[in-house]
Amino acid sequence: MAAAGRRPSADWAALRQSAAAAAARAYVPYSGLRVGAAGLCDDGRVVTGCNVENASYGLTLCAECTLVSGLVNAGPGRLVAVSVVGGDGRPMSPCGRCRQLLMEHGGPELLVDGGDGGEPRRLGDLLPGAFDSSDLARAENPGG
Ligand code: THU
Repeated sequence: MAAAGRRPSADWAALRQSAAAAAARAYVPYSGLRVGAAGLCDDGRVVTGCNVENASYGLTLCAECTLVSGLVNAGPGRLVAVSVVGGDGRPMSPCGRCRQLLMEHGGPELLVDGGDGGEPRRLGDLLPGAFDSSDLARAENPGG
């Protein structure tokens, strides 16, 4: 296991395989679109998530959302590489909301699986000019 703080390099094939295994666990009675996500942490851990839909469609949890929940619940860690795949095992692009979620826990240098033959992409390139905690400094009345 890599020491926290150093950036372990991603085995993209293995990460994609973990994401595909997670996609097989998805709860998708409404869209039928299985999505799985796998993230490599700075300490070498791999965390996964799958999408969990709801009869109230808007409450659906994306795969990246349950990945982030699992990450935080398992203890502190930063994401360094993430693969998101559909039920067919092929990489897919994280939605806008999930780019923001991943940004919070990986920052702009987080690498996102670029798909077959594609180079991994920096999250900062997928979500330029992201809102982050530094924007909260503009609050007029913090905490109250
Ligand atoms: N979905 C994800 O899990 N992640 C994304 O980044 C895009 C969309 C899911 C949500 C929903 O269950 C299904 O895909 C169709 O939108």
